[in-house]
Amino acid sequence: MSRKGIILSGGLGTRLYPATLAISKQLLPIYNKPMVYYPLCTLMSIGVKEILLITTPFEEDRYKFLLRNGSQWGIKIKFKIQKKPKGIAESFLIAEEFIKNSSSILILGDNLFYGYNLSSKIKAASKNFETSTIFAYPVTNPQQYGIVNFNKRKQIISIEEKPSNPKSNYAVTGLYFYDKNVVEIARSLRPSKRGELEITDLNNIYLKLNKLDVCFLNESDTWLDAGTNDTLLEASHFIKTIENRQGIIVSSPEEIAWKNGWICDQKLKELAIKLKTNNYGKYLLKLIND
Ligand code: TTP
Repeated sequence: MSRKGIILSGGLGTRLYPATLAISKQLLPIYNKPMVYYPLCTLMSIGVKEILLITTPFEEDRYKFLLRNGSQWGIKIKFKIQKKPKGIAESFLIAEEFIKNSSSILILGDNLFYGYNLSSKIKAASKNFETSTIFAYPVTNPQQYGIVNFNKRKQIISIEEKPSNPKSNYAVTGLYFYDKNVVEIARSLRPSKRGELEITDLNNIYLKLNKLDVCFLNESDTWLDAGTNDTLLEASHFIKTIENRQGIIVSSPEEIAWKNGWICDQKLKELAIKLKTNNYGKYLLKLIND
């Protein structure tokens, strides 16, 4: 059994206007592949096979065209619409039917996680379905994030949204694990001053119930969110540098599906041949030949 995965890929992307006036931010490329491949691969690499992608009414068809129903990668992808960006925690109300009685994982469509052994670390945190876990990462500009305040034993005391006097520099990343009660708890949320169902409010409820763990990511791990022109370009450079230096492709759903034994050699070859005019396709073909 595995948790069900939700990718939240709506929003307005106003910080990237005019680039995102006519296209969803998460369909823009980070270097050589659509941004949404990165959170998708984070889920796939920890064994999640049932995924719901939430997007805007204007973008659903494009995502369906890109990701299909997931069977080409041995997974199941479903789609739902968020009519307006009314907050990250609204995902659980939209995903109610999909989640049913399962525990779930939410990942934001513009978040990129990369690091040695990082999937094993995330996977380990995912094993106990009774726990809810957030992932914290050290940042230099804590005033701009949800910040975890924790004690000496590294247990969370509070989470503060964009604090002017941050008590730590550990930001809450866009990856959240919840137990099977998340829909019910999300239903009790009320919109914040900015009119959104806030994920921080949801996390604070779990915290009050004493049911929220935090997993600290290392400095050697990388967490990027590609929401501004600068971070989008930096993410592209980051991926380009790693891929070119190491001769790998970061976050290829084809490779992960094949390595997980979800698709066979023949299927990988079929997928690779469609991409064979570039390094991505050549890399996939090489995987089979090696
Ligand atoms: P944000 O970066 O906070 O919002 P945004 O993507 O609309 O961008 P901007 O601030 O530039 O206008 O959202 C983080 C991620 O969550 C991003 O992948 C979009 C997604 N999101 C939704 O899909 N629906 C929502 O209601 C919100 C708030 C975010």
